[in-house]
Amino acid sequence: MKGVILAGGLATRLRPLTLVTNKHLLPIYNKPMIYYAIESMVKAGIKEVLITSSPDHSGDFASLLKSGEDFGLKLFYAVQQNPKGGISDAVALAKEFVLDQKILVILGDNIFKTDLKSAVQKFEHKEKGALVYGVKMPTDSKQYGVIEMDKQGRVLSIEEKPEHPKSDIAQTGIYMYDSRVFQFIEKLKPSGRGELEVTDLNNFYLKEGTLSCELLDWWIDAGTSYDELLRANNLVADKVKKNEL
Ligand code: G1P
Repeated sequence: MKGVILAGGLATRLRPLTLVTNKHLLPIYNKPMIYYAIESMVKAGIKEVLITSSPDHSGDFASLLKSGEDFGLKLFYAVQQNPKGGISDAVALAKEFVLDQKILVILGDNIFKTDLKSAVQKFEHKEKGALVYGVKMPTDSKQYGVIEMDKQGRVLSIEEKPEHPKSDIAQTGIYMYDSRVFQFIEKLKPSGRGELEVTDLNNFYLKEGTLSCELLDWWIDAGTSYDELLRANNLVADKVKKNEL
């Protein structure tokens, strides 16, 4: 299985912090934000990871992370020409890198802790399908993709930023896909905000009955606002000091 970390976008919500740099290079306590996604890949047992970023900053990622040797994996880099192309547009850049393997995708501004290793091993043995991670968000789920599940944990629907959310489970930025993902992305049309949405991609798998969902205990989307960035810094500082991260 190969890894893909998405580190593109314009991060207009974090300006002026992101006027001359990429949000995934901003600090979360004692490390640049993207370190957390890379460390999650390492812990998951992934040996080769592609980092996708925006044209202006891809050189900065290479300067910072180099070959990946210091982390114990091999890093590769791709440029997302359209920084507003969306998550699925960025995943599509991994087609030649991944070939016929499965992939673990992590959004580079997601901070979380979970054992991805056993999930990755389980997913490797699946014939086909996709896995999405969700998290309970008692308030504000409507600013995310919202996952509706039944009592057995089966996914019933996923809607992108719905006006009336059907549940309090937000779709995080951690996904696993089989190698057909690139065929599905080719069928996607840009959404109202002009992006190739990850929610539309996940709905292909949902329709064929091969999408599953796992829940995380905690998760922060550190790149969405100044407050979430600050919360991520405080939470990580606290967990590092308690040896919990
Ligand atoms: C994107 C996805 C959304 C998901 C979120 C997680 O939203 O479209 O489904 O819940 O990432 O970070 P965006 O950050 O593009 O608004």
